[in-house]
Amino acid sequence: MNPAEARQGPPAALPASGAPRAGTHVLCVAPMMAWTDRHCRAFHRVLAPHARLYTEMVTADALLHGPTARLLAFDPSEHPVALQLGGSEPGALARCARLAEERGFDEVNLNVGCPSPRVQRGAFGACLMLEPRRVAGCLAAMREACALPVTVKCRLGVDGHDDYPFLRDFVGACADAGVATFAVHARIAALTGLSPAQNRTVPPLDYGRVRRLKQEFPHLAVVLNGGLRDTACVVGALAWADGVMVGRGAYRNPWWLAELELALFGTHLPAGPHAVLERYIADYAEPALADGARLHDIARHLLGLFNGMPGARAWRRHLSEEARRRGAGVEVLEAAANRLPEAA
Ligand SMILES: Cc1cc2nc3c(=O)[nH]c(=O)nc-3n(C[C@H](O)[C@H](O)[C@H](O)COP(=O)(O)O)c2cc1C
Repeated sequence: MNPAEARQGPPAALPASGAPRAGTHVLCVAPMMAWTDRHCRAFHRVLAPHARLYTEMVTADALLHGPTARLLAFDPSEHPVALQLGGSEPGALARCARLAEERGFDEVNLNVGCPSPRVQRGAFGACLMLEPRRVAGCLAAMREACALPVTVKCRLGVDGHDDYPFLRDFVGACADAGVATFAVHARIAALTGLSPAQNRTVPPLDYGRVRRLKQEFPHLAVVLNGGLRDTACVVGALAWADGVMVGRGAYRNPWWLAELELALFGTHLPAGPHAVLERYIADYAEPALADGARLHDIARHLLGLFNGMPGARAWRRHLSEEARRRGAGVEVLEAAANRLPEAA
């Protein structure tokens, strides 16, 4: 569906009643390092008022020994927003969970799905799926330290452990520690031999295993992640899953979030990409720039906004070239958008 079609009304996928779907995790935007920073999340919020947004993974070490305030900063419009943590030390994670609560996050999520070598050296991320008891200890400590929902993002398994019982036992251990919500990236992580990017494409997706998890743990909230790219697929998954988590599809084609918002919640806003941009500039970009943000850091998340529309390539080129200039302000965004046909 292109933006013009989206404005005409809900697609066939909208439930007949048009009733908003219940549940806190129906639509989630995945944590993505270097992508879902605060500028990006505030942008996604304009497109999807009901989505739950996740920060990039922040390691416990960075949070406790680095620029804590900067790492925890977010815009009030981002609610509901979850802080994703990476770590494997219960004490450190507990302190981070408390910081998340103090700072006003709505959820704290533990990353048990990242396969990058750097993360493995730190003994956290996906390799922790091999240590369910350790993970359970971390989760219990985090729960003890704060009143926020503590959730887990994991894979189906890791190489050598590619079967349902492995996933079941891992999730069971976390559930015993009191975790009730799991976002499952529906492929295993290969801990050797694949780059992080390959680890998001090469191991095959298996939604059936996630579905079985939901069937066998009906009291848990199970959020499906991985490879979701179109609205029909999302609506199909929500027939059995408590929620979906979309990553690359939403980042590369942000307007899809507005389509999902319409299909899942019946929200008729915003009117189109131009209206999104206007609102984002007024509500977020202008104040952020006045606060010292650089236009390039903001504009890079907007490159895909007009995808599929005439002039999209010129928009991307204009932003890429002009937003880097010293002192560039929102006039660069406005000038680029004004060159697009729909602006008339
Ligand atoms: C650039 C990039 C960075 C990512 N960083 C994280 C991260 O910090 N934490 C995490 O749990 N997953 C991370 N992921 C994985 C995504 O959250 C998601 O599980 C994965 O991309 C599959 O979903 P998708 O097919 O909808 O993109 C990252 C993915 C990408 C593309």
